[in-house]
Amino acid sequence: MDGIGDRFQKETKYRRDKLPGGRLDLSTRPKPYKEYEGAKKIVLDKPKPRLIAPLDLCIRTRRSVRRFSGKAVSFQDISYITWAAAGVQRIEENYPFRTAPSAGALYPIETYLVVHNVEDAPPGLYHYFPLDHSLELMEEGDFRPHATRAALDQKMCMSAAVTFLFTAVWERSKWKYKQRAYRYIYLDAGHMGQNLALSAAGLGLGTCAIGAIYDEEADALLQLDPEEEGIIMMVAAGHPVR
Ligand SMILES: Cc1cc2nc3c(=O)[nH]c(=O)nc-3n(C[C@H](O)[C@H](O)[C@H](O)COP(=O)(O)O)c2cc1C
Repeated sequence: MDGIGDRFQKETKYRRDKLPGGRLDLSTRPKPYKEYEGAKKIVLDKPKPRLIAPLDLCIRTRRSVRRFSGKAVSFQDISYITWAAAGVQRIEENYPFRTAPSAGALYPIETYLVVHNVEDAPPGLYHYFPLDHSLELMEEGDFRPHATRAALDQKMCMSAAVTFLFTAVWERSKWKYKQRAYRYIYLDAGHMGQNLALSAAGLGLGTCAIGAIYDEEADALLQLDPEEEGIIMMVAAGHPVR
């Protein structure tokens, strides 16, 4: 047991006699969201209850889909699944809580979309801004080849109507949890990915989680400073080939 992962697991354990202590400095708490100020915005539809299938059926029918048809994802559907993954669900004491649970409600995960075939959203690279449930256009164009290359050349990113990229802003979680934050960051992303997968299944859409990623290529696509923010997971989505 001496690989970096093994050491990480060992060194980030909580033990009764060795709990990290100290007060949190609220003045240095990072903001739980990122905004591309000045970007052109597409405000998404209000997420009304509209799943076509009950949760039980979503759980029973969800499976990884890697081949997508040329049918566009509707504006309502992209609005719903994006909200289900990353949206604001309620505000308590002026603080926005999201649809998926997050350790310490710190929300380290950011959501980006490579849009290819979505109604009323031109192809391009977008960032999701949860506070007003909008897509911020980072750059218009066909970014499927970039997404495909970043995903170890997996072709599903070429046929996907949209590929989601989930990143983490490390300091949002590390501010409180130090090195243990990485455990929670991966768990947070997993919860969001499953919200995405189940809500998509409920609308007859398919998804496939992607963990095989050339991290540096994905970070470069999103123009991230990897010291601050880095790719965690991608999810291809669209209408399945029947
Ligand atoms: C964290 C994670 C990473 C994954 N990465 C990939 C991937 O890179 N490529 C792929 O084709 N499938 C990927 N998958 C999908 C799994 O292969 C799939 O979930 C598994 O085979 C079970 O099949 P099912 O999802 O249809 O039930 C990933 C799934 C998870 C949860």
